[in-house]
Amino acid sequence: MTTARLTIDPVFRVGPVRRRTFGSFVEHLGRSVYSGIHDPDHPTADADGFRGDVVDMVKELGVSTVRYPGGNFVSGYRWEDGIGPVERRPRRVDLAWHSTEPNLVGTDEFMRWCAKAGVEPMMAVNLGTRGVQEALDLLEYCNVPGGTYWSDLRRAHGALEPYRVKMWCLGNEMDGPWQTGHKTPEEYGRLAAETARAMRQMQPDLELVACGSSQSSMPTFGEWERIVLTEAYDQVDYISAHAYYWEEDGDLGSFLASAVDMDHFVASVAATADAVRARRKTDKQIHISFDEWNVWYQDRAESKPPTGDDWPVAPVLLEDRYNVADAVVVGNLLISLLRNSDRVHAASLAQLVNVIAPMMTEPGGRLWKQTTFHPFALTSTHAAGEVLQVALDSPTYETARFGDAPLVDATATWDERAGELVVFVVNRSVTEEVRLEADLRSVPGLRVVEAVTLANPDVYWSATADDDSVAPRANSTAAIADGRLAAVLPAVSWTMIRLAR
Ligand code: AHR
Repeated sequence: MTTARLTIDPVFRVGPVRRRTFGSFVEHLGRSVYSGIHDPDHPTADADGFRGDVVDMVKELGVSTVRYPGGNFVSGYRWEDGIGPVERRPRRVDLAWHSTEPNLVGTDEFMRWCAKAGVEPMMAVNLGTRGVQEALDLLEYCNVPGGTYWSDLRRAHGALEPYRVKMWCLGNEMDGPWQTGHKTPEEYGRLAAETARAMRQMQPDLELVACGSSQSSMPTFGEWERIVLTEAYDQVDYISAHAYYWEEDGDLGSFLASAVDMDHFVASVAATADAVRARRKTDKQIHISFDEWNVWYQDRAESKPPTGDDWPVAPVLLEDRYNVADAVVVGNLLISLLRNSDRVHAASLAQLVNVIAPMMTEPGGRLWKQTTFHPFALTSTHAAGEVLQVALDSPTYETARFGDAPLVDATATWDERAGELVVFVVNRSVTEEVRLEADLRSVPGLRVVEAVTLANPDVYWSATADDDSVAPRANSTAAIADGRLAAVLPAVSWTMIRLAR
């Protein structure tokens, strides 16, 4: 059996595990909001119409932040449509998803939902069809305690306390020609800088995210970041990154190595930001908000918005069904995000419910977990303390898309206070089990608390509302002796091994 070797020493650290790594995303898109988090006829619905069972499952998933209200949707959104008495709110055309937006859920409802779900809101402002003033108005509505037009309106709508939203995205994917109000990097960089400057005049301690590239394959990738940051460096804290992966043309080997691309993406954006920094002779470092990432089969018919005269409310869109291989890739992308947490200070799994999501609802009915739910929930729950730099010696395999890729990928976290070390590891081999040997002698006295593996003989197995039974199971091969951990990793698998003193 092939062996991969890992050496771990808590002296070598990447940085703290950041809770914001485990963010997600709710967009007014398809059934994400309506019949997703919001379903007034559901037996568990609250006074706002939010499903209680979904709130409970969001907690189980361990989500930290939720980005809202888009996505492409935000680039045509008038946030004022979504406040005040629901019966007086306008219905609007949503150009991004060729839908009708009924505005039954808006800023106030979303903030109440966040409080219920115990998540931090991360808001996006519209820099597609709108600009500085509308962003300021929304900020005033959300964050000014009272005594001004918009803050008093919020209070009149029942929210006496400000929402204190810290993190704001300055538009969405403005590099994409599909974006309503798409801009050149010079145009966008300037608008982002001016919007950020004005928002900070209202509240200096905001955390502001400029749009980076919507994927690393964009023709403007790199140059976009350079120009936007040249315009907006002093005004923003983050540059965003978005990446979606899927198995193309039956090439499972390349798909399983998707995290190679994510690592490269992060390194390229960081290098570009640092080059701008060097030219500006400043100490300030720009961080990365990886605020859309996931597996998404973009070539499937239901990934395309409807066309023609039909402008439906909450159509079925982007309802990808995830298989076991997809879940292994999601687990591996989380390994990459953790490994890069010195630079990636926030991330959002896109999205949360129904739309390319780890959880699915039936209108008025059942709620069930996709395969991708499990690696996210377990990583979010158990990654704690510091992310460690691990030394990995893995055999490689050839991929069509990424060249030679390591067969095994891994990271580890060390929670000194709890005395807990957690290893997250994937085996990307399509055919072979791999033996993992980890030298943990630097932390004497460790024992295995729990070892679980997500794998299935049929890697294309997907959960349904009737059967979501393939979940991580105990890996009985994991054992430690004299500080040396060994475990067998099945082909196409994600594994978490928790050890404690
Ligand atoms: O998450 C789905 C869509 O993907 C978002 O609306 C957009 O920002 C991205 O292209």
